[in-house]
Amino acid sequence: MQRGGTRISEARSAPEAARSVRPEGTIDAFISDVVAAEIARQMRLSVATSRSPALVAAVQRVMSRHGITDPHRLRDRIAADDALREEVLDEVTVRETHFFRDSKQFELLRHTILPHLCRPRASAPARIWSAGCASGEEPYSLAILCAEDGHSVRISASDISMKALAEAAEAEYGEWSFREMGEYLKRRYFLQRGDRYRLRPDVARSVRFTQVNLGFDRLPAPDRGLAGFDLILCRNVLVYLDAADLMRVAEELFTCLAEGGWLLTAPTDPPLWRYASFQTATTGAGLVYRKPMHVAREAGYEARYSKEARR
Ligand SMILES: C[S@@+](CC[C@H](N)C(=O)[O-])C[C@H]1O[C@@H](n2cnc3c(N)ncnc32)[C@H](O)[C@@H]1O
Repeated sequence: MQRGGTRISEARSAPEAARSVRPEGTIDAFISDVVAAEIARQMRLSVATSRSPALVAAVQRVMSRHGITDPHRLRDRIAADDALREEVLDEVTVRETHFFRDSKQFELLRHTILPHLCRPRASAPARIWSAGCASGEEPYSLAILCAEDGHSVRISASDISMKALAEAAEAEYGEWSFREMGEYLKRRYFLQRGDRYRLRPDVARSVRFTQVNLGFDRLPAPDRGLAGFDLILCRNVLVYLDAADLMRVAEELFTCLAEGGWLLTAPTDPPLWRYASFQTATTGAGLVYRKPMHVAREAGYEARYSKEARR
């Protein structure tokens, strides 16, 4: 008798099947999604269900490197060993990024959003946050754009990974990071040393880095300067979060914006409009979210803005 192409007499449980195909001399333990999820919880790492196989594979690689055969032992060691925690984090997270990633979004930033935020008579520099900045190319792209166009801004950037933040603070990059950035800006803002390029220190200094775990830390955090932003970029990060955390983070990002502030996510990120009271616009660069102005202020602002525009 056959069911789904397998003879019932030959059918085995999933763990049995996994044990039988495991090569000799490697890890004994069978790592289930459940144990891997426990490890992620121990690390306070939010992982989307779709990333479960990647999490299991990452845990497996770290166990193999350290000769750990019981995943529960890895979980317990992570609690007391920050370096091991960072190592697992590094295996699980995707840190792919580059300068001016998604040129359409940078066009929108350059020609619409930044000129609006940095109007000549603005009373203070615009405040920008790159949340999930990886090795720094995203906030530094903003810093370069603002230097180029003479905008006065304060840029914060954060990531869960200390390793990524250390690389970002170094501000030195290889050729691959420049694949979407023109030669003109590269020559103007980077100093070449062999096959590496170091960002000009005056521009690098305009970005402040800090560690934030979006899946765990509570936001806004005014004491850490994480509140009242005019613009937040949170691109290619939300797609990795567990569904419950995604809803909470959407609300927290909304609360971290100043009235009238803007939020950009990546075109491949999940839509956020259903989780917080954003004004959402569909543009050629994907969805753009704004925190509405108070109605009275919106009217006042519009009047002032059109008066300025008429001058
Ligand atoms: C693919 S990179 C995106 C970098 C940049 N935003 C871009 O779009 O090019 C994703 C980054 O999100 C970070 N990340 C993942 N989960 C996070 C979390 N819960 N909190 C903060 N950062 C997280 C990763 O460490 C990684 O550096």
